[in-house]
Amino acid sequence: MPRPASPPTVSPDPPATGRRLAAGVDPGAHLSSRAAVAADVSVAPGAVIGAGVSVGAGAVVGSGAVIHDGTEIGARCVIEDGAILGKRPRLRARSTAPRGELAPLVVGPGASICAGAVVYAGAVIGAEAIIGDQAHVRERVTIGERTVIGRGSSVELDARVGARVIVQSNVYVTSGTVIEDDVFLGPAVVTTNDHTMGRHPREEPTPGPVFRRACRVGGGVVVVPGIVVGAEAFVAAGAVVTADVAERAVVMGVPARFVREVEDEDLLERWR
Ligand SMILES: CC(C)(COP(=O)(O)OP(=O)(O)OC[C@H]1O[C@@H](n2cnc3c(N)ncnc32)[C@H](O)[C@@H]1OP(=O)(O)O)[C@@H](O)C(=O)NCCC(=O)NCCS
Repeated sequence: MPRPASPPTVSPDPPATGRRLAAGVDPGAHLSSRAAVAADVSVAPGAVIGAGVSVGAGAVVGSGAVIHDGTEIGARCVIEDGAILGKRPRLRARSTAPRGELAPLVVGPGASICAGAVVYAGAVIGAEAIIGDQAHVRERVTIGERTVIGRGSSVELDARVGARVIVQSNVYVTSGTVIEDDVFLGPAVVTTNDHTMGRHPREEPTPGPVFRRACRVGGGVVVVPGIVVGAEAFVAAGAVVTADVAERAVVMGVPARFVREVEDEDLLERWR
């Protein structure tokens, strides 16, 4: 794409001493004078990088990406076109979500935030993780190393997601969910955390489900609030899980019922 002749747009905040624009910053990008961008970073036209943002060596920022103040982006990260990083939540008046100041979003080295994804302030994204196109990761969520959040999936506030987790497309991970390492959630899995659908005292907790290490959950499964799915368990496609699932159990149907145990040869250590 040809570069416009005009100089890069720089915000009116005071320039840092000795600051020079990195060679790879397109003149059509808006880069705060108080951002710290490594010399070899590539920034495409139309990207906006706010004050106090740091971008590590070898990172790439796509066209139209918006990186809000204070966000920390590690070396070799890829921020694709139209991604929004460090967004602050907009809560409804009666929301029970915490309203305190949020820590900066931290994106670990080698992570990718794909086109149109929105990742909030206060989240921590692990090294080499991939947040898919149009996925949505809320405040204070933690995502472990090499985890993939699929296209269009939502990970709601305060959820904790371990390392090497696969969350396929269009999954809804409700707030407070715990997903341990090596879990697999198939497409369009839905988790829930409120049996009353909003008709409970404000102080009453809304427990998200817990997915123990290396469990697998098939496409279209619905998990009702507070359920624990045991380590290495297998939930068949389309099930509605209304009771805890034992470690290594295969469950199926509506409501999900035990049918057998996961075979030795299907345990994760055979498939690493
Ligand atoms: C569980 C699963 C592996 C099939 O298991 P299976 O033991 O091979 O099942 P079978 O085809 O031998 O069927 C055994 C019985 O269970 C039923 N059954 C199979 N899958 C079922 C399911 N998901 N829900 C309810 N019943 C199911 C069959 O109809 C059959 O019933 P019958 O004995 O009355 O005829 C499969 O249904 C499944 O869930 N796969 C996961 C796919 C997925 O979501 N992947 C995610 C990434 S794409």
